[in-house]
Amino acid sequence: VVAELREACAAPAARLNEVAAAMEAEMRAGLREEGGSKIKMIISYVDNLPTGNEEGFFYALDLGGTNFRVLRVHLAGKEKRVQRESKEVSIPPHLMSGSASELFGFIASALARFIADEGRSNVFEDKQRELGFTFSFPVRQTSIASGTLIKWTKAFSIDDAIGEDVVAELQTAMEKHGVDMRVAALINDTVGTLAAGRYNDEDVVIGVILGTGSNAAYVEEATAIPKFEGELPKSGNMVVNTEWGNFYSSCLPITEYDQALDEESLNPGEQIFEKLISGMYLGEIVRRVLLKIASQSMLFGNINHTKLKTRFILRTPDISAMHHDETPDLRIVAEKLADNLKISDTSLETRKMVVEICDIVTSRSARLAAAGIVGILRKIGRAVPGDERRSVIAIDGGLFEHYAEFRQCLESTLVELLGKEASRSVAVKLTKDGSGLGAALIAAAHSQH
Ligand code: BG6
Ligand code: GLC
Repeated sequence: VVAELREACAAPAARLNEVAAAMEAEMRAGLREEGGSKIKMIISYVDNLPTGNEEGFFYALDLGGTNFRVLRVHLAGKEKRVQRESKEVSIPPHLMSGSASELFGFIASALARFIADEGRSNVFEDKQRELGFTFSFPVRQTSIASGTLIKWTKAFSIDDAIGEDVVAELQTAMEKHGVDMRVAALINDTVGTLAAGRYNDEDVVIGVILGTGSNAAYVEEATAIPKFEGELPKSGNMVVNTEWGNFYSSCLPITEYDQALDEESLNPGEQIFEKLISGMYLGEIVRRVLLKIASQSMLFGNINHTKLKTRFILRTPDISAMHHDETPDLRIVAEKLADNLKISDTSLETRKMVVEICDIVTSRSARLAAAGIVGILRKIGRAVPGDERRSVIAIDGGLFEHYAEFRQCLESTLVELLGKEASRSVAVKLTKDGSGLGAALIAAAHSQH
């Protein structure tokens, strides 16, 4: 089973170059016309990235990662001092598949409580508070502060929200909860990460999320977007949210476990790249491999399979902990297997095999993410022969932040694909809580004060 898995997940450089080329081709097709590609290449209406002069108090909402967050950000202009206060709330699972009004009601009530607790309303005097809304799902933007939900991804599935303007939904919920605030910007988390990255480093050109889900946004030349019908922005640039999670190509290394995971998922046939890469799925892929081994051998002893058959019982932090186990007898692996899966009697050899499975699944993920980034770099003519510019990629999300093996593998694969010489001009930067800051920065750029 492990040998077959290793072969099916193999992502040597030649294959990754095909993936990067396919990503680049899909990007071009998606820019040409609406519906031209599986990747949506969404026009964000963010045509100016932060300058560093932004100032004022702004609120931000961040929905779509592991936790929902409310933030209040003070931008202090040129000094670039940023003060943040935030509150993190986990979304009760039943709200992820309920109704739009319940979800937006929950968000608005968290915002109302946050404002009630702060007791500093005098900062705003008579001015209306302004908000940047990071909504990390595919949205067809109609302006900087409006857009309709195309579909849900990750663990969300609320039918009556699809096709609706998410800002209008939020505004209605805020009114009901007595919150008087103007939504100045609606952004994706990748766009927020890109903006926050740019605030701190002017060479940031790509924002990537490697967390529960996976996606990337980048700075495109407006004239390279044939489907863009508006007036060309003065900056000449437009941030594009690729929604690369829905990328698909026949050159992707897909296994029987991925196929089964996809078929049983909330969104079969969709988000195939995301299902190979992101934190929501890696643990689940490993669980499926372990279940197959358990059904074909006695390596885990005579166990009751109930736990091992429970979907999503093994989470990516669990496989990260096992993968990084440096104890001589792989004690952490033993604990995780016992606590999560009720597998308590394993030999050291079996535990080593579990670590290898984590390594195979995670390396494939990190290598594919690197190939995606290379596809974008090639699309914008960065880190290619003759390009001397520094290109920085701002990355956020739990998978990148907390999974060291993943991060190292992604970085070394970038060097492998770009070549030593070209990769010297490329840097990857963890941009923590990029989208909270990014939302505030973009709200500041569209403030009416
Ligand atoms: C956070 C960003 O830091 O990372 C969110 O502010 C983003 O906008 C999130 O969605 C992704 O990470 P995770 O691991 O929580 O999905
Ligand atoms: C999913 C969403 C996308 C988001 C990503 C990371 O792929 O569709 O909008 O950016 O997750 O949170």
